[in-house]
Amino acid sequence: MLKNLIWRQSPRVRSLVPRSFTAFYASKVPLTSESYLSLKRNDSFKRLSSDDIEYFRTVLSKQELLGSKEEGDLDPFNEDWMQKYRGQASLVLKPKTVEKVSLILNYCNEEKLAVVPQGGNTDLVGGSVPVFDEIVLSLSNLNKVRSFDPVSGIFKCDAGVILETANDYLVQRDHIFPLDLGAKGSCQIGGVVATNAGGQRLLRYGSLHGNVLGLEVVLPDGTILDSMHSLRKDNTGYDLKQLFIGAEGTIGVVTGVSILTPPKPRAVNVSFLAVKSYEDVQKVFVKAKGELAEILSAFEFMDAKSIELTRDHLKKDDITFPLEDEYPFYILLETSGSNKEHDDAKLEKFLETAMESELVIDGTMAQDETELKNLWHWREMIPESAQCNGGVYKYDVSLPLKDLYSLVEATNARLESEGLIGDESKPVIAAVGYGHIGDGNLHLNLACREYNKTIEKCLEPFIYQFVQSKHGSISAEHGLGFQKKNYIQYTKNEVEINMMKDIKKHYDPYGILNPYKYI
Ligand code: FAD
Ligand code: MLT
Ligand code: ZN
Repeated sequence: MLKNLIWRQSPRVRSLVPRSFTAFYASKVPLTSESYLSLKRNDSFKRLSSDDIEYFRTVLSKQELLGSKEEGDLDPFNEDWMQKYRGQASLVLKPKTVEKVSLILNYCNEEKLAVVPQGGNTDLVGGSVPVFDEIVLSLSNLNKVRSFDPVSGIFKCDAGVILETANDYLVQRDHIFPLDLGAKGSCQIGGVVATNAGGQRLLRYGSLHGNVLGLEVVLPDGTILDSMHSLRKDNTGYDLKQLFIGAEGTIGVVTGVSILTPPKPRAVNVSFLAVKSYEDVQKVFVKAKGELAEILSAFEFMDAKSIELTRDHLKKDDITFPLEDEYPFYILLETSGSNKEHDDAKLEKFLETAMESELVIDGTMAQDETELKNLWHWREMIPESAQCNGGVYKYDVSLPLKDLYSLVEATNARLESEGLIGDESKPVIAAVGYGHIGDGNLHLNLACREYNKTIEKCLEPFIYQFVQSKHGSISAEHGLGFQKKNYIQYTKNEVEINMMKDIKKHYDPYGILNPYKYI
């Protein structure tokens, strides 16, 4: 049986960094203000004047201030990763110090200039780009590691450090960052904290709400909140940092992060498995939790259509799929532990019995680091593969595991009945499901030939109503941003929403920070 699990091909590893904006330089994403005509600019915000620019020049050096000299210069800051939203910022500020962030915000607050904090701009809900003419406050120049304590594993850095850079730094010190995701080559530590990103390691290391020990945040009026603690335990009143984790830049700009990092696992195994049904995905998950227990570190699932899209997309790069046949569902299972022999024995036994009982019908296991990366590549390239044909509608939901895949089926049925999917004349190419099944998190993606209001109306609020009926969440990890700004009530109740609004009003009375988004 185990012979089926031997690695068959050795595809070339492609960079996991998300597609660069420059490749799409000529493309013109429609202005958000034109795609959403009912949306009006808030006229209590001042329009940027030459006096304002003069002020910023007194605070910032030439390298810290970008204005648009030529059309297209600021596109990378105005357009989102999905090429779905485009703002009209004419000024991007890239301060190099926390004090400069404070001066900028203090000035913007007094002058009522709206600001969008921006990290790596890999946000998937339109949260990181302006809607109208907001100033972009980029954290990319605040990019230093501050300290690392090898005894406690506590790592402190500026918000603009790129996730992959932070992880590489930690790996050299026998530790890892407790979060990993496909956008690691571009997203920043401040950005992942601001979105409370989940990713592939959450199953093992838990969420950022647990791992982040302290934050440094600049409030909308310029006050610097220094809360860069290194304590695992601190029960002295409200845990203020939690307010900013997942706030999506609406009440403060994160400038520094203190986080607990785990030791680098000594043995990592990755297998890519095929199963017959979603029922069997769940059974394999239960079996893995029971038998692999403390070494199970990731459990991702992908349906046939998501892999079909990825195969089409990767075809041009001549990358071979690791299995010979096609199957209804795939699982990427990772174990991480401290003893290779022990982990190998456990995993082998698990796979042997899973195949004997025909729960797993095919599979392959990485034999070295390159193969391991290749297997992850097939999972991590799904978002790009779903996006690259003209557009993608993304829904990132939490649902009880038993109901999780039924949302993909219900959406496909709805698209068919509305005549929006089926053949090449239809706008939707495929509605696919994949995600972090170990966390009850489904990514439902609609790969489209174009962005189109008919598709949007067919899906929203249908999907949010479905999620509400199953007591799920309309955002498991990507946040609400611009896309879901009108739908928060499908997950949060009135009292919760009012409390959020009170907090926003208290800290940002003029609403200058990331306006037109969810709050
Ligand atoms: P940005 O996109 O720049 O900003 C995200 C939000 O945070 C915006 O609202 C912005 O205003 C705000 N913000 C950014 N920096 C700061 C700051 N310093 N202070 C205050 N507010 C700030 N997400 C997941 O949860 N799990 C995944 O597995 C995952 N995989 C992805 C894979 C790909 C290929 C892509 C493109 C995205 C993925 N994402 C995932 C989505 C995205 O949320 C993460 O990439 C990341 O959390 C965003 O970080 P960023 O630095 O790019 O932030
Ligand atoms: C993922 O898990 O791949 C990410 O959350 C990104 C996405 O779904 O597009
Ligand atoms: Zn995800």
